Amino acid sequence: MDRLSVFSGNAHRKLAEDICTHLGIPLGDALVSRFSDGEVRVKINENVRGKDVFIVQPTCPPTNDNLMELLIMIDALKRASAKRITAVIPYYGYARQDRKDQPRVPITAKLVANLLTVAGADRVLTMDLHAGQIQGFFDIPVDNLYAINVFIGFLKEMNIPDLTIVSPDVGGIKMARSYAKKMGAGLAIVDKRRISPDQAEAMNILGEVKDRNLVIIDDIIATGGSLIEAVNALKKAGAKDIYAMITHGVLAGNALEKIENSKLKMLFVSDTIPQKEHPKVRVISVASLLAEAIKRIHWEVSISCLFDQVVR
Ligand code: R5P
Repeated sequence: MDRLSVFSGNAHRKLAEDICTHLGIPLGDALVSRFSDGEVRVKINENVRGKDVFIVQPTCPPTNDNLMELLIMIDALKRASAKRITAVIPYYGYARQDRKDQPRVPITAKLVANLLTVAGADRVLTMDLHAGQIQGFFDIPVDNLYAINVFIGFLKEMNIPDLTIVSPDVGGIKMARSYAKKMGAGLAIVDKRRISPDQAEAMNILGEVKDRNLVIIDDIIATGGSLIEAVNALKKAGAKDIYAMITHGVLAGNALEKIENSKLKMLFVSDTIPQKEHPKVRVISVASLLAEAIKRIHWEVSISCLFDQVVR
């Protein structure tokens, strides 16, 4: 492990430290701050020549600052002769801008992939990409881990009776089905319509939810609009307790307030993004899963066993 180094920007230092604890190595020493004019200032304070380097930096809000720090860190490490640089991006920002679904809009997820590659990243390690196809935006290897591998243990421990798993939109059916199959639970789908980037509307519910306890599975909660719309529609349809397990808790604007005032019993999110404490939000750490993947990438052994829980 002496050829392995892990560095962090300012996006989520705690996650990087937790990963290092699992790996049994100290976090790499680097200065990542700002010049007086606001430009990003990076200095790697230790020798990385010939090393296998991992930079932990989710591109969560402030997205542009975190992305720029990551790009500049990659550049610094490359120029310091690191042998291989893996960008560990537990939450890949801009992922929802992944196709040209209206005239004259960018595909920013692809632009970010280009920026990372040009900066000098050799590989990417990420989790629950909004669309698996984003892997194809890169011409370098991308490992996309799944939070289900950690979440499913918690769900089993909760031992919820009369359980049905719910996908809040058609895009999430595949993952929701994986949970339902692993839990031996029913499956329901909310037919969601997006009115604007910040507003969603639940249209119909497919599947049986009356008198059932529900767990809504999703990859991202941003404004909370999709989740709250789904909770309201499911309650109206006669659901009992409703929980949500969502990998990336962006929780922008007044999302926490919306959750607090909603009929949702508890929101489970992972720590791919730093979280504030809240009585209705429980954070489940994915640090051990990321550490295991880093270890396996470093040793150049298969990581496919880390995908075991996903029913393809
Ligand atoms: C949509 O396809 C995603 O899976 C999430 O449902 C969506 O991004 C959540 O966004 P918001 O919380 O703003 O409704």
